[in-house]
Amino acid sequence: MKLFEPYLLGDLQLPNRIVMAPMTRNRSPGQIQSDWAVEHYSLRATAGLILSESTQVSARAQGSADTPGLYNQAQATAWKNVVEAVHDAGGRIVAQLGHAGRLSHSDYHGQKPAAPSPVIPEGFVRTPLGTKNYEDPWVPATAEVAALVEEFALAAKWARWAGFDGVELHGAHGFLLDQFLQSATNRRTDRYGGDAAGRRTFALEVLQAVMAHFPGHRIGYTVSPGGNHKGIGDSDPIGTFTGLARALSQARIGWLHVADLPLGELKPSEFLRGEFQGTLIVSEGYTRDSAQEILEHNGADLVAFGKAFTANPDLVDLLRRGDRLELHDPKTFYAGGKTGYIE
Ligand SMILES: Cc1cc2nc3c(=O)[nH]c(=O)nc-3n(C[C@H](O)[C@H](O)[C@H](O)COP(=O)(O)O)c2cc1C
Repeated sequence: MKLFEPYLLGDLQLPNRIVMAPMTRNRSPGQIQSDWAVEHYSLRATAGLILSESTQVSARAQGSADTPGLYNQAQATAWKNVVEAVHDAGGRIVAQLGHAGRLSHSDYHGQKPAAPSPVIPEGFVRTPLGTKNYEDPWVPATAEVAALVEEFALAAKWARWAGFDGVELHGAHGFLLDQFLQSATNRRTDRYGGDAAGRRTFALEVLQAVMAHFPGHRIGYTVSPGGNHKGIGDSDPIGTFTGLARALSQARIGWLHVADLPLGELKPSEFLRGEFQGTLIVSEGYTRDSAQEILEHNGADLVAFGKAFTANPDLVDLLRRGDRLELHDPKTFYAGGKTGYIE
C-alpha cells in the first residue's frame, strides 16, 4: 500500500507516509517539556514524520495552559531531550511554531494579547485564573510588526539548536498568522492589511525570517481554510488561501499542511493541491482506507493522523497489519496526566 511506502520530503527520507498531526496536550508546566513528553514522542517515532504540538514563540504567544515554549535556553534544552529521544528511536520531528495572538489572555503573561486589529474573539477563554472574556488586544503599529516577526525567527533559531528536523508555521485554527491572513480579523489599512496580498505579507515576512535558520525544504506551513475558530473567516476564502498557497510555493517551502475541515461543500485540499508545488500533507478524520485512497488519487503526498495517535503510539504498525485501533478518550486530550499520554 502506498501509505506504507517511503517518501522523500526534501532531503528527509520518510519510511512511510503517515504523519503524526500536531496536538496540544497541555502537559508542560512552566512551558517546559517534561520527561513524559520525551517518552510520549519517542514512542511514536515510527511515524514517517512527527509534527510537534504547537509551541509558543514568546510569552505573549501562549494560548492555553501548560503548553511548551521555544524562546529560551531552558525550554530549548527540554525540547532537545525530546528531539534526541525521537532520533535515537529512529524518527524525525518538526517543531510547530505557534502564536495564539488574540486568543491569548493577560492572565498568562501580564500583557495584552497581540492581534492585527481590535477584533475580539467570540466566546470565552480559560486562563489559570478561571473562565474569562477575551480582551481588547494590543495592535502593533506598522513598524512594530517586525518585533512579532522576530519572535518566530528566534524560536526557529532555538528549534535549530535543539536539533529539530524542521519547523512548521502554525497558520491554522485562528492563530496569529491566520488572524493576519483572513479578512474577518485583519482590518488594517497599512501594508499588512487591505487585500489578500497585503494580508499575507506578515506570513511571508515570518517565512523569510525563519529561512535564516532552516532551508526552505525544511519548513512547512499549516492552514485550515474551513475552520471558523472563535469567529475567524474570510470574505473570499478560496481566493485568499489560493493566493497564500501560490506565494508559499514560490518561496519554495517544503510542505503545505492542510487541516482539511470542509469549506461549505469543498475540501480545501482539492483547490489547493494544484497551487502548491511542494509536498501536500492533509489531516482531518482520515482512516487507513481514506488515507490510502487520497494518496492513490494523488490528492495528497502524506496523511496526518491526530486523535488516533493519542491512543495508539504504534499506529503505523496497527495500520500496516489492519488491526483494530484503541479508541481515543477526549477527556485526556488537554489534561489527565499520564493517562492517555504515556499510558
Ligand atoms: C487534542 C488535540 C490538539 C490539537 N492541537 C493542535 C495544534 O497544536 N496545532 C494544530 O495545528 N492542530 C492541532 N490539532 C488538530 C490536529 O492536528 C488534526 O488536524 C485534527 O486532530 C484532525 O485530525 P484527526 O481527525 O486525525 O484527529 C489538535 C487536535 C487535537 C485532537
